Amino acid sequence: MGSNSIFEDDVEIIRDADLFTEEHTPEKILCRDDVMQDYVNALKPVYKGRPPRNAFLYGDTGVGKTAATKYLLRELEGDIRERNADRGPDEQRTFTHVRINCQNIAPSDGTASSYQVAIALVNEFRDDQIASTGYASREVYSMLYEELDEIGGTVLIVLDEVDRVGESDTLLYDLPRARDIGYVEDTRIGLIGISNDYTFRSNLSPKVRDTLCETEIKFPAYSADELEEIIAARANNALHDETYDKEVLSLCAALAMRNSSGSARRAMDLLKQAAEHAENVGNMPIKPSDVYAAKEELDYGDMVESIIDQDQHKQLIIDAVARLETDGRTPVRTKAIHAIYEQLASAAGDDPLSQRGMYNHLTRLDMLGFLQSFQNNEGLRGGQYNTYELSEALTVRQVEDAIDSSELPTADVELDLDSILVRAGLSED
Ligand SMILES: Nc1ncnc2c1ncn2[C@@H]1O[C@H](COP(=O)(O)OP(=O)(O)OP(=O)(O)O)[C@@H](O)[C@H]1O
Ligand SMILES: [Mg+2]
Repeated sequence: MGSNSIFEDDVEIIRDADLFTEEHTPEKILCRDDVMQDYVNALKPVYKGRPPRNAFLYGDTGVGKTAATKYLLRELEGDIRERNADRGPDEQRTFTHVRINCQNIAPSDGTASSYQVAIALVNEFRDDQIASTGYASREVYSMLYEELDEIGGTVLIVLDEVDRVGESDTLLYDLPRARDIGYVEDTRIGLIGISNDYTFRSNLSPKVRDTLCETEIKFPAYSADELEEIIAARANNALHDETYDKEVLSLCAALAMRNSSGSARRAMDLLKQAAEHAENVGNMPIKPSDVYAAKEELDYGDMVESIIDQDQHKQLIIDAVARLETDGRTPVRTKAIHAIYEQLASAAGDDPLSQRGMYNHLTRLDMLGFLQSFQNNEGLRGGQYNTYELSEALTVRQVEDAIDSSELPTADVELDLDSILVRAGLSED
């Protein structure tokens, strides 16, 4: 029967792993009736061949903004196609949509410019791709409007994670007005912006806000029951029958509710990871212990991710503390951290910050929960000082994983801590 491959597990729980991927658009959007009705209303003009409305969608991470958008665009496209099939050539409606995830075109620690978004859009429409640099802004915008004009009909442009567009005025202001301004002749352009950053809306200039936020749709967080319903529907298709029970689904929902503020993505990830864990250890059906193991694994990855999100100075400081910790020297004083940090920064080709400059980052890392600080008091002569170690939530291995993934050149740098500390006048003896 079964193969003898070392990759084979004794139990198989996952039936269709694709259903757990970010690209997958669910067959149905559950528990979102009110929101979906608002969204459908906002899109109706497109179906009816009227000027499209712009919309702004907001809500916390994992509450279905992207999924609902992909779902409705697919429906809209299908329904317009069906409608066209019944009509004569004069009554055909042309509908096109593109979705850009602005996060993907923004640098990891910054925002994408209107220029970069315009390039990404041009490349969505063209077969022969253009390079991301080397064109004058004017050239790029005129290429974009040329493409849009050629398409005709209604074009909906979805800018997902639109908060990752900085100085967004040029595009966010011009696109919805392109026809009025005369950039395009026939094409009607609608803009949909999606964001989980609540401050983004209020930071928009009033003229952009008025257009983009013509329709505002708020996606509230899910309740634990709703999360359970959503992952139950997914499990039904993605997992084999009788490989899980209600207790496991409730637990995934409860953990996503408690630790990830009602994110369906988290609930889904917990279920998938628990299923994989169960397959690896041979549990059938999935046990609560598999879910807890999944939670550990996801938390581990989150922490690594959040180190990767820090700027390079902070990463190097964390790296310095981790090296001192490996050597059994933590909790350790600022001066020693600085001595190690300085070496790492030079190795990374950075200008090292002064001890005072580094100290600001250090206190910030303490506040963010990467490091833990202790206050020491050595009386009149020693004075007061702080010492630091990695926080309890963080292990040296996580730091190493993060430094590896950030492709910092310091990953391979070996330091002789002893001699560095001696040179800095910090010898123990
Ligand atoms: N109502 C729902 N019904 C079915 N699946 C859902 C629903 N809401 C969310 N999901 C699923 O949960 C996951 C996260 O949803 P989605 O990607 O839409 O979140 P988001 O609001 O766009 O989050 P972010 O702000 O982080 O981009 C996806 O796998 C999606 O398919
Ligand atoms: Mg999204």
